[in-house]
Amino acid sequence: MTPVEIFARIEHKVRPYFYNLPPELSIRLFSFGRKAFISILSKDKPMKSVILPPKSSRRFWDIEFNCNIFNAAGMFKKGEGYYTVASQGAGAYLAGTTTAEYRNGNTKNNTTHPVATFLKSGIAVNWMGLPNEGHKIVASRLSCIERKQGCPIGASIGADPAQTGLASLSGVLDGFKLYSQANVDFIELNESCPNVVHEHSEELIDGIDKSLVERLEYISVNFLKKRKAFIPVIVKFSTDTNPEQVPALIHLLLTLGFDGVNFGNTSTNYSHHRKGLSENEQKTFEYFIKTFGGGVSGRTLKASSYALAAQAVYFAKSMNPQHEFHVIRTGGIETAEDIAESEKSGISLNQWFTAYWEQFSLHGHELYLNLLDKS
Ligand SMILES: Cc1cc2nc3c(=O)[nH]c(=O)nc-3n(C[C@H](O)[C@H](O)[C@H](O)COP(=O)(O)O)c2cc1C
Repeated sequence: MTPVEIFARIEHKVRPYFYNLPPELSIRLFSFGRKAFISILSKDKPMKSVILPPKSSRRFWDIEFNCNIFNAAGMFKKGEGYYTVASQGAGAYLAGTTTAEYRNGNTKNNTTHPVATFLKSGIAVNWMGLPNEGHKIVASRLSCIERKQGCPIGASIGADPAQTGLASLSGVLDGFKLYSQANVDFIELNESCPNVVHEHSEELIDGIDKSLVERLEYISVNFLKKRKAFIPVIVKFSTDTNPEQVPALIHLLLTLGFDGVNFGNTSTNYSHHRKGLSENEQKTFEYFIKTFGGGVSGRTLKASSYALAAQAVYFAKSMNPQHEFHVIRTGGIETAEDIAESEKSGISLNQWFTAYWEQFSLHGHELYLNLLDKS
C-alpha cells in the first residue's frame, strides 16, 4: 500500500468520531483536510498497474472507455490527478467545473469551501460555489497530458455566476473553444450547480425555463453546428429535475445536436435527504444546511438518478435519434449492483463522487477493480 492509501484507511476509521466535535469545528477540519488530501492523492499512483477484466471496456462516440464508471465533475477542479485515476483503471477522467474567470468559491464562518460527509449514511453535502482557476489555465494543463489507453479526458464547463446575458454565454463558448483546442475527448456542460445562481426566466418553453433553452441554443449554433472535429457534448442537469420535464429536455437536446445527458448533480431536497441520516449525523447536517445551504450527494440520490436516467434512455430511444446519444447516470453510485442496474436500463456510463472516497478508503487504488470484478 502507498502511504496515501494507508492514510485514507486510518482516516476512514477516525472520521465517525468527528461528529462528537462541535459541528462548526468538524466541518472546518474536514473541509480543509479534504482539499489537502485531493492534492496528495492526485500525485499518487498504484504500486502496480491495475488491469481491469477486458469485458469492462466500452466504446461510445468512437471513444474507448476502460469501463463504464469514472469520477464526476468537481473532484479534480484544477485538471490534476489524471495519471492517478487512469492508473486506477477509471473509465475516463473528468476535470472541472471551470468558468470563464477565476473564482474563489464560497467562504463563511471562517470555513472555505464547506463540505461534510456522513459515512454511515453514505451522504455528503457541499457548498463549494464553483471555485476554479478558469477555463484557460485548466485547458492548458489538460493539453499537456499524455493519454493512457482507455482513459479519455473530459472537461466540465459552467457559466460564470458573476456574469449575465451575452457575457455569460460567450464565457461558456470560450470554454468550449479552449477545451476543444486542448484536444479533450468530451465536454460536459454543467447546468445544475445548486451553490451558485443560474440565470433563469419566469417564462417557459415546452415546460422548460426559457433562459436554459436559449443558452443551449446558443451553444448549439455557435459550437455544436460548427465543430470541425467531432467532440461529444453532454449536458448535466440536477437530480432534482422534475421527471415530467425529461421528455421535453431530451427532445431539446436531440434537436439541438447534443450528444448526451447526465442526471445528475446534487440536490437541495433537504426534507427528503435528512430521513436517510443516522441519529448522530443529524446535528452536523442540520448545522450545515442552516449555515450554508449546499447540495446533497451520495446514496440518497441513488433512486432519483436512476429514475431520471432510465427515463431519459426510454425517451431518447423512442425519439429515434439520428445521431449517437448517450445517457450518463450520476448520484449515489457505489456498488456493482448500481452499475448493473444502470446497464440493464441502457444507461451507457456512470459517474461517482461521494462513494469514490469511501471506496478508496477501503480498497485504495484497486477501487475500480474491486467494483467491476463483482459485476
Ligand atoms: C465537494 C463536491 C464538489 C462538486 N463540484 C462539482 C462541480 O464542480 N461540477 C459539477 O458538475 N458537479 C459537482 N459536484 C457534483 C458531483 O459531480 C455529482 O454530480 C454529485 O456529487 C452526485 O454524485 P455522487 O452521489 O456520486 O456524489 C460536486 C460534488 C461534491 C460533493
